[in-house]
Amino acid sequence: MSEIAKKNTNPLLPQLCKVINIKEETADVKTFRVTNAKGHKPFAVLPGQLCMLSYLGVGEAMFSVTASEESWLELAIKKTGLLTEALHELNIGDTVGLRGPYGNHFPIEEAKGNHLLFISGGIGLAPVRSFIRYVFEQRTAYGDIDIVYGARSYDDLVFKEDLLENWPQKPHTKLHITVDKGSTNWQGHVGFVPPYLEERAFSPENRLAILCGPPIMIDMCLQSLSKMGFADKNIITTLEMRMQCGIGKCGRCNIGSKYICLDGPVFTLEELRQLPQEL
Ligand code: FES
Repeated sequence: MSEIAKKNTNPLLPQLCKVINIKEETADVKTFRVTNAKGHKPFAVLPGQLCMLSYLGVGEAMFSVTASEESWLELAIKKTGLLTEALHELNIGDTVGLRGPYGNHFPIEEAKGNHLLFISGGIGLAPVRSFIRYVFEQRTAYGDIDIVYGARSYDDLVFKEDLLENWPQKPHTKLHITVDKGSTNWQGHVGFVPPYLEERAFSPENRLAILCGPPIMIDMCLQSLSKMGFADKNIITTLEMRMQCGIGKCGRCNIGSKYICLDGPVFTLEELRQLPQEL
């Protein structure tokens, strides 16, 4: 468990939080901004960490924190089942429970001085965005930033304001956005992420790759990165699957001897290769 998680008094105790903003990202993704009763973010959280969100009478599930500031934190939630459908019905002012933070975090210290290649697809940008935001806050500590992002269509691009307006204006930052299907409202690249990644031919020298997205995309991108010469220890990904308790007790998230909620969700490819092939 991270140092921050240890400092919080009881990560199993949900705090009652209020929804203070809701942004409709796409037809099936909304970003919820929440604050606690004191008007603060419920707990300190590092990029890549997770929290358990509960909705009274419906259930709870683990989500990555996509952004946080002193007075709030944000979760981007895709409609995938009963709980997330209910969460999509929330209104500003409604109450939810939040507990956390859980898991490890992206290697924010070790990554300093490196160029960073962020690769994500669909809602996979949510955890990656927390690292990207952190890097922008400490911009001079890191090298060049490249952000490769893919979605099914223009309408499915999440965080459009960041992708198309805010981030392209940041120093030494390039956006590489692609969609699977073209449309009249999209003038950019059309095609899948893995070939687009290879086409861009990023040098592995002094560069870390950070990935999150649909398993098939990640699988193919890992092969592309290896072909491009990236060492396994310089490829970092985050897994978010089958989590329930968040504290290594329920056994829902173990792969071999590792628990994603404790040892992950962030792993290097070098670490993943040592796990049983259950992914
Ligand atoms: S979520 Fe329960 S053991 Fe990891």
